Amino acid sequence: MASHVGGYLRHIMDTCAQNRSGQVADYIPELAAVDPDGYGLSLCVHDGHTYSCGDSDHEFTIQSVSKPLTYAMVLSRLGAVAADPKIGVEPSGEAFNEISVDARRRPRNPMINAGAIMSASLLLPPVRDVAESVIVSTFAEIVDFYSACAGRRLTMDEAVYTSESRTGSRNRAIAYMLDSFGTLDTSPDAALDLYYRQCSIRVTTDDLAVIAATIANGGLNPRTGRHVFNQEVAQRVLSVMTTCGMYDGAGDWVTSVGLPAKSGVGGAIMAVLPGQLGIGVYSPRLDEHGNSVRGGETCRHLSTDLGLHMFNVTRESRVTIRAVYDISDVPVGTEWSEQERGFLRTCRDRVRVYELQGDLTFGGAESALRRLETDMDDFVVAIVEISRIGVIDPVARTMILSMKRTLEERGRQAMLVDPDGVMRDSVDRHRHDAIAPDLNVPEDLRGLDPTLPHVHATMDAAVADAEEFLLKRARDETVRDSG
Ligand code: DON
Repeated sequence: MASHVGGYLRHIMDTCAQNRSGQVADYIPELAAVDPDGYGLSLCVHDGHTYSCGDSDHEFTIQSVSKPLTYAMVLSRLGAVAADPKIGVEPSGEAFNEISVDARRRPRNPMINAGAIMSASLLLPPVRDVAESVIVSTFAEIVDFYSACAGRRLTMDEAVYTSESRTGSRNRAIAYMLDSFGTLDTSPDAALDLYYRQCSIRVTTDDLAVIAATIANGGLNPRTGRHVFNQEVAQRVLSVMTTCGMYDGAGDWVTSVGLPAKSGVGGAIMAVLPGQLGIGVYSPRLDEHGNSVRGGETCRHLSTDLGLHMFNVTRESRVTIRAVYDISDVPVGTEWSEQERGFLRTCRDRVRVYELQGDLTFGGAESALRRLETDMDDFVVAIVEISRIGVIDPVARTMILSMKRTLEERGRQAMLVDPDGVMRDSVDRHRHDAIAPDLNVPEDLRGLDPTLPHVHATMDAAVADAEEFLLKRARDETVRDSG
């Protein structure tokens, strides 16, 4: 079955694919030669499950999306106390390659080139004469760190690295300016070499989504279970991504998208919803700030249509599946005939109860739906118990209702136990502003069903409804078999 979330993502991509504005980076031949229409999108959720769409396995160079990772490495090794005198955390409001420093002659933040070159320098030994072998071994550690974040072995694009090193006059100017201030403890050329190498690491949008999810998870890679960095580092990296990640467009980005993010001239954007999920998107045509045009638009849609803005105030806690069980321990209803009761006793395990808790937002609905999809062969009736749910986001409601319909199309029945009428409230509150108007959710995914059949105030009523469904189904099968 095509997943609902996959359907949403593809729909957003179809919408944004129409936008062919912007230009691919052309300062080196390798970037100028990429397919301008390339477009990939991946979303990695809290347990590592990754939705991949379009060119999600196409490799491109990470470029500036590397900056938060190298900064995370610096923080992990040196700690913030040692890093802060070298690199600030203030948004510069300037272009990524601006030759500027703050009053203390520090690069203003680690997301602009000056700060990123400084970060790379801090991984090298504090000597003026750095041997090539030392740069190579430090770079191997960078690759190890990025690979641990991505959950797979990453490699470097030699041709891009060679071109970057040949053409980087501006970066050389920045490194030498820092050196002239006496703030670089190592050789400017070694720092630049390391920076060019890190920018040339090849990734896919799947990799970026997993890296982003690792940051979202406080440094714990959700796919491998490995702790790559700690929670304090993640918090600081997210802070500078929020304030400085999108350069001179940072304010507009935070307001309209509300996801800490980092872009790169290769066409990638990596975005994080702290505590919940990571996004990787790639499309190489860039706007005047050097950010992917389609990538930015895709993030805007993801944020608005799926309610992912980090300041979405209904997102207090992630919904979790509290318990899953069948109704073997629930006595068969007394209203049925002896024969019917006998039949119902044979199929108690075909009715599953899913108890949910927390606030039902996109993240929670996604994990609940995926569990239902995975279990579908094991039940005929799914009873979703939401008495412990506080609030239901419009997108989550639409997802639950569309899943309910999908189950019905597959000969199953979904029921809700909603004693406090939370679903009904959500329908009433968002009758006019559900995700439908903005997202243009295809009709078959909308599933907006204001009549809410099979919604019950008690578990007993839901079990009785489930029994009636099983009996009717058995009768229909008997008629079909004898006909
Ligand atoms: O520093 C450079 O010129 C590049 N290798 C990386 C810059 C970059 O990706 C800026 N991001 N939008």
